[in-house]
Amino acid sequence: MKFSAWQALLVAALCLLPSVCAWGIAGHQIVATIAQTQLHPLVREQLCSILPNYTQYPSHWPPSEDVLPRTHCHLAVLAGWPDTIRSRYPWSGQLHYVNPVDDHPPTQCYYGETGWTSPNNVLTSLVNYTSRVVTETGWERDMALRFMVHLFGDAHQPLHLTGRARGGNDVWVHFEGRKARLHSVWDTLLINKEIRELSNYTTRLPSGRIESALVGARYDPLVRFILKEGLGQPAIRGDVGNAWWRDESASWPACQGHASVSDAQMLEGEGQLAFSSMVEDPSRVDDTDLPICPYEWTQPMHSLVCDYAFAAPVPAWEPAPPSDGDDSEPSPIPFTEPELDVPEYVGRIERDKVIHKQLAKAGVRLAAVLNTLLLPDESVSTLSD
Ligand SMILES: *[C@@H]1O[C@H](CO)[C@@H](O)[C@H](O)[C@H]1NC(C)=O
Ligand SMILES: *[C@@H]1O[C@H](CO)[C@@H](O)[C@H](O)[C@H]1NC(C)=O
Ligand SMILES: *[C@@H]1O[C@H](CO)[C@@H](O)[C@H](O)[C@H]1NC(C)=O
Repeated sequence: MKFSAWQALLVAALCLLPSVCAWGIAGHQIVATIAQTQLHPLVREQLCSILPNYTQYPSHWPPSEDVLPRTHCHLAVLAGWPDTIRSRYPWSGQLHYVNPVDDHPPTQCYYGETGWTSPNNVLTSLVNYTSRVVTETGWERDMALRFMVHLFGDAHQPLHLTGRARGGNDVWVHFEGRKARLHSVWDTLLINKEIRELSNYTTRLPSGRIESALVGARYDPLVRFILKEGLGQPAIRGDVGNAWWRDESASWPACQGHASVSDAQMLEGEGQLAFSSMVEDPSRVDDTDLPICPYEWTQPMHSLVCDYAFAAPVPAWEPAPPSDGDDSEPSPIPFTEPELDVPEYVGRIERDKVIHKQLAKAGVRLAAVLNTLLLPDESVSTLSD
């Protein structure tokens, strides 16, 4: 290793010691690291004019005649930051999720058709902070980028897209024998299980682009696994092989425009009060000049809440509170938290690669948006390895 001192600093900043760092940060760092691998080299360099200098690291990618390494800055270092300031700035809490009205997965799955409980949510804050990465300067721009990176992760965590039991925070389950909140199973425990159980991809991939974004974190093998087997990167002579998402990943960052909801409402019939006159069209949030469409992106992912996150053996309704004993009703059967590490729950999630895909989608979209916003027009946007 040529730059061991630098890498040691960066690794310290990435906070690899579980005892020191909240576990939940790994998901955000993985998303940021996947994004880092997909950034144009000029964008990586530009990050250093936004992020603080302790996120810098020297890299010999892209290869050049220069003897000196390029200076890049790493998105993962500050990906968890908005969680660390939540208690200091309580107003920022609601920016991490969205609560659709009438949504009670898995029995009733609504995502914006009847509105949101608050206009300040992960969808509107994604627009807000993405726009501010372009318009702000100095510390405000740095903060906007930290939020942007973080919120791309949150918007792809299915339980950040529902308000049932505070996004599963109030649902107690067992995971690998330990009592846990359903929310943290998805934020943390499933990801840690994937990291722990992956035994291959410990060696470097033949790609300077990818390897220069991996700085020695415990989740590096998982990032390589997702890139290689999910996205087919690095491609072999342009061929992505049998990558899991070979037919769809190129379209993940696209925004088709939001004609569908409005068209459906127009068809409701003449003379009738259109649905949109009572509840705002949920896709309105996508109506910006930015290359993002938070509603269009998250709307199909809301089905993961109903199909996987609140699927059996998670109870379809919150267990009844214990009765106070003086009434003649028979007391309810004591509730035992169900174990989720069973084939019908975790087995399905793993078979369908739900976690891997959400991490990949978030990272690919984040990088595409940053490449679009920060790349000078004249530069070519194709990536070489
Ligand atoms: C980082 O910036 C601070 C001031 O903003 C400066 O004191 C420090 O020397 C810089 N560190 C490096 C490694 O450039
Ligand atoms: C972002 O939100 C802040 C606080 O609500 C507001 O002052 C600002 O105008 C918003 N910016 C954009 C670009 O939406
Ligand atoms: C790596 O391990 C995973 C399971 O942990 C397996 O699905 C995959 O096929 C392995 N890949 C290679 C190239 O060995």
